[in-house]
Amino acid sequence: MSRFIKKALEKLPRLDKGQLGELLKDIVAEHQLYEASLQSIPGGLVVLSSDNKVLFHNKAAERFLGLSTSVETSEKPIWNLPVDREVAEYLRQTLTSTEPMVAREFTFDASNGPRILNFLPLPLLEDGHVQGALIFIQDVTERKSRESRLRRAESLASLTTLAAGVAHEIKNPLGSIGIHIQLIQRALKNPTSSALATMAKDLDVINEEISRLNGIVVDFLFAVRPMDTNLVLGSLGKILKDLVEFMDEELAQAGVHVKLALADGDDTVLLDERFLKQAFLNIVKNSLHAMPDGGTLTVTSKRTVSGLEVIVTDTGSGIPPELLEKIFEPYFTTKDFGSGLGLTMVYKIVKEHGADIRVTSKVGVGTAVTILFPWPARTPQLLDFKGEVP
Ligand SMILES: Nc1ncnc2c1ncn2[C@@H]1O[C@H](COP(=O)(O)OP(=O)(O)OP(=O)(O)O)[C@@H](O)[C@H]1O
Ligand SMILES: [Mg+2]
Repeated sequence: MSRFIKKALEKLPRLDKGQLGELLKDIVAEHQLYEASLQSIPGGLVVLSSDNKVLFHNKAAERFLGLSTSVETSEKPIWNLPVDREVAEYLRQTLTSTEPMVAREFTFDASNGPRILNFLPLPLLEDGHVQGALIFIQDVTERKSRESRLRRAESLASLTTLAAGVAHEIKNPLGSIGIHIQLIQRALKNPTSSALATMAKDLDVINEEISRLNGIVVDFLFAVRPMDTNLVLGSLGKILKDLVEFMDEELAQAGVHVKLALADGDDTVLLDERFLKQAFLNIVKNSLHAMPDGGTLTVTSKRTVSGLEVIVTDTGSGIPPELLEKIFEPYFTTKDFGSGLGLTMVYKIVKEHGADIRVTSKVGVGTAVTILFPWPARTPQLLDFKGEVP
C-alpha cells in the first residue's frame, strides 16, 4: 500500500465525500497496477489464504493449473479444485505439513511436446506472520534441456580425459615390449645358449606386459561402456540401508562403527538401484580403506529444497588439498592395488541420475562425500496445458 493511501486511511473519519472518491480512485489505480504487474510476470502465481483457498491467481497460473475464475475457485482448498490429481496431492501435502515447503517439478504433455513445470510454494508473510501461501509456477523446460546438453558435453569431456589416461597407461608396457623384442632380435642374430636363455626371460616379460595391457583395456571398456541406466522412482533410504547391511560384516571386522541417520518422510527419487548400489559401494570401500585402524562411518540423508542430500562421512586419513581435484580422474590412485577408476565410475553414475557430487576432506580428520539427488519430476494425468507462457 502506498504511503499516501495509508495516510489518507488514517484520516478517514475526517474526509469529505469528494476526498473519499479521490481515495477510492487512488486505491483502484494502485490495485490495477499491482494486478497488471502480477499478470505480466513470466510465471504462474497463486495466492492462498491461511485456509488454502485461492485469493488470487494470474492468467499464467490459470493456464498451468487449469483453474477457472468461477466462484467455486475461491471457496474450497486448492487441492479440492479440479486441478491435476498429482499436483493437488502434492499441494495438499506441502501446504498442510509442518516441514519446510519443498519445490517440485511435474511433467505435462502439451501440444508442442512435454513441458516441465516447477512448483515453488512459499509462505505469505505479512508483518512477520504467516498469512497464507504463494505458489510460483515456472516453465523450466528450456532450462532443463540446456542442463542436459551441458551434462552430455561434460561427459564427452570426461571421455577425452579417460582416453588421455589410457594413452598414458599403455605407453610404459608398450615401451617395455619394444625393448624386449629388440633384445630377442639381437639374440637371434647370435643364438648362443646363454642368448637363448635370456630370450626366454624376455618372452616372459613380454607376456606379463601384454596381460597388463589387457587389464588396462578391460578397465577402460568398463569405464566408457554406455550405462543402460533405467531410472525408476524408488526410496534412496532403502538403498542406503541395504548397502550398510551388506557391508556390515566387513565394516565390523575393520573396526568401523556405522551411524545411519536417514531423513524422515518421502525420500523417493529417480534411481537405478543396481548402479546406485555400485556407486555407494565404491564410496564406502574408499572410506574403509582410509580407516585401516577403524573409525566411524556416518551415512546421512537430508531433505532440502533442491533435492535429497546424501552424505557419507569417514574419520579416515583424509585427502591432501592438492590431490582433492584429481580424485575423479580416471586411473588416479594412491593405492598399490587400486585401479583409480572407482570414483570415475561414481561420478558417471551420479551424473546419470542428474545428481551432483562434492567431496570435502581434511588430512588426519576425514572425508565427506555429498551427493544431491534432484526431486523427481512427476508425470501426472494429462492436463489441458497449451505450453504457452504470457
Ligand atoms: N574416503 C577417502 N579417504 C581418503 N582418500 C580417498 C577417499 N576416497 C578416495 N580417496 C583417494 O582418491 C583416490 C581415487 O579413488 P578411486 O576410488 O577412484 O580409486 P581407488 O580407490 O584408488 O581404486 P579403485 O579403482 O580400486 O576404487 C584413492 O586412491 C584415494 O587416494
Ligand atoms: Mg576406490
